[in-house]
Amino acid sequence: MLSRPDLHSTALVTSVRMTKAARLHVCFAGGGTGAWHVERMSAVMGPPLPAVDRVAVREDQNLPVPPGSPWLLRGVTSYERYVQRRERSALVERQPALGRPEATCAALIPIRKSAAWWELTQDERRAIFEERSGHITTGLAYLPAIARDLYHGRDLGEPFDFLTWFEYARASSELFDELIGKLRATEEWAYVEREVDIRLTLHVETS
Ligand code: HEM
Repeated sequence: MLSRPDLHSTALVTSVRMTKAARLHVCFAGGGTGAWHVERMSAVMGPPLPAVDRVAVREDQNLPVPPGSPWLLRGVTSYERYVQRRERSALVERQPALGRPEATCAALIPIRKSAAWWELTQDERRAIFEERSGHITTGLAYLPAIARDLYHGRDLGEPFDFLTWFEYARASSELFDELIGKLRATEEWAYVEREVDIRLTLHVETS
């Protein structure tokens, strides 16, 4: 059986990257292969993605993408737009790394925000994101149960502006549902024009 670290080096997103300088390209391939099995997927807003059985995660651009994948979503890590110093300290203190052995559940939630969002200025977006919607404050309360990573697709010309990725133990599934429910009720989410919610479980193949 592959251990989580083995799996990591080939397929999984590896660590929390709040202060990382290097960019990391990632590709999520929906199809018939991959360690992550789809439990359910639904279009929360806007058009759905074709239904698939599995998702393969590739973080090395040179690794082959599984052939015949009905969809491929690409993103790249980037600098933080909204986090302030005291928030970063709180995040760094509390956020767990990805790839914990007990975190066998994941959510891949691709999101596209509206033209109205992108027409706002940076200070207007920050005010909606945190001062009025409390995205970071709310999210912090769910750490360390939930590990997260964020990839940007907008500047790559991708259909989704963001690929959000979360890992948690099965016992924390309801907690994750609670968190996403709170965020969807905020002013920030009024600017979400496309969102697909894909829930996954990790199946490690025996060799
Ligand atoms: C687990 C708790 C969570 C924490 C601690 C958290 C924290 C953060 C932080 C700090 C940022 C800003 C990064 C920056 O400064 O650029 C961010 C961005 C974002 N998060 Fe979360 N988040 C959490 C959960 C979620 C959930 C459940 C979703 C739902 C899909 C989500 C979706 C997003 C999106 C789409 C962005 C990009 C927003 C933008 O740049 O317009 N987050 N999150």
